[in-house]
Amino acid sequence: MRMRKLGSSGLEVSAIGLGCMGMNHHRGPAPDRNEMIALARAAVERGVTFFDTAEVYGPFTNEELVGEALEPFKGQVAVATKFGFNLGGAQGRGLLDSRPERIRMVAEASLKRLRVAAIDLLYQHRVDPDVPIEDVAGAVEDLIAEGKVRHFGLSEAGADTIRRAHAVQPVTAIQSEYSLWWREPEAGVLPACEELGIGFVPYSPLGRGYLTGKIDETTTFGGNDNRSTLPRFTPEALKANRPVVHLLEEIGSRRNATPSQIALAWLLAQKPWIVPIPGTTKLNRLEENLAAAALELTPGDLRHIEDAASKISVQGDRYPRAVEKATAR
Ligand SMILES: NC(=O)c1ccc[n+]([C@@H]2O[C@H](COP(=O)([O-])OP(=O)(O)OC[C@H]3O[C@@H](n4cnc5c(N)ncnc54)[C@H](OP(=O)(O)O)[C@@H]3O)[C@@H](O)[C@H]2O)c1
Repeated sequence: MRMRKLGSSGLEVSAIGLGCMGMNHHRGPAPDRNEMIALARAAVERGVTFFDTAEVYGPFTNEELVGEALEPFKGQVAVATKFGFNLGGAQGRGLLDSRPERIRMVAEASLKRLRVAAIDLLYQHRVDPDVPIEDVAGAVEDLIAEGKVRHFGLSEAGADTIRRAHAVQPVTAIQSEYSLWWREPEAGVLPACEELGIGFVPYSPLGRGYLTGKIDETTTFGGNDNRSTLPRFTPEALKANRPVVHLLEEIGSRRNATPSQIALAWLLAQKPWIVPIPGTTKLNRLEENLAAAALELTPGDLRHIEDAASKISVQGDRYPRAVEKATAR
């Protein structure tokens, strides 16, 4: 497995990581827990050294699963987790809670659930409109000084917020949605990362499964699968956005690769400090996705994708408006 550096931080990880959320959160009925532990360990055996979880996944149980799975590989892999949702029931707050005292509490609890002495990468999950980002960065700076956290990250933060945070505590990675059907980070966030030497971790790099070609307008999602609530996953949007999948299939047939592999190879081709974290609950798909690390798209492939994509207008918001509005950038 090829390795990549997340910006100038010194954190080096496998070029493709593993998003662990779907192992028991937001992606339909949770598969057998022991099988998911075995899958995470199989990923390590195949060279994956970068794993993604969060306090809110479960909540709590996803970190516990990841902690148990990776305990035998302490020091050999990097585990990233996130704080920032209001799971403590704080009165008068909405969806989010990034107050410094809460960050400390969550980090201490995550350390226990992950069974580690230090969290390799701790992200703020969403920017909290009620807590200045300087206070958030200061809280993580203290945890780093105490040896409880190694690297600081932000998820879905805008370029200005990233600059302000980075001035207090250097940011190692930004984790935001990025794929061929959600390219917003290209406008401001990726240039800011490049300028400041910050790595970028695309989440939902397979478009929550859509870009693999295995989902269409007849696919149904269970109540515990958040895709049932996303405007981009209505049957109409799934049908209308088919040209994106056709494009990936077309390049895939030229390069003898699957649409998923082309989607991941396209992300890897954007910048050498980009590390996508596709999620899966199946070993054959894990292997398929990891093989994309060795697939280099040619300048011709990339030009063709760029040209064709510029003619496609993607339909449907990625999140319901109320959810986007509850967070800041
Ligand atoms: N920071 C944030 O706010 C945020 C938000 C969302 C996600 N994330 C992180 O990003 C990770 C990945 O995101 P995601 O799960 O939303 O989306 P994703 O990685 O784009 O897609 C995952 C979905 O695609 C399917 N899949 C994976 N590989 C496949 C393949 N080769 N062929 C066919 N289907 C395939 C999986 O189903 P099977 O399990 O059936 O294979 C799963 O339903 C998460 O695990 C989480 O760690 C972060």
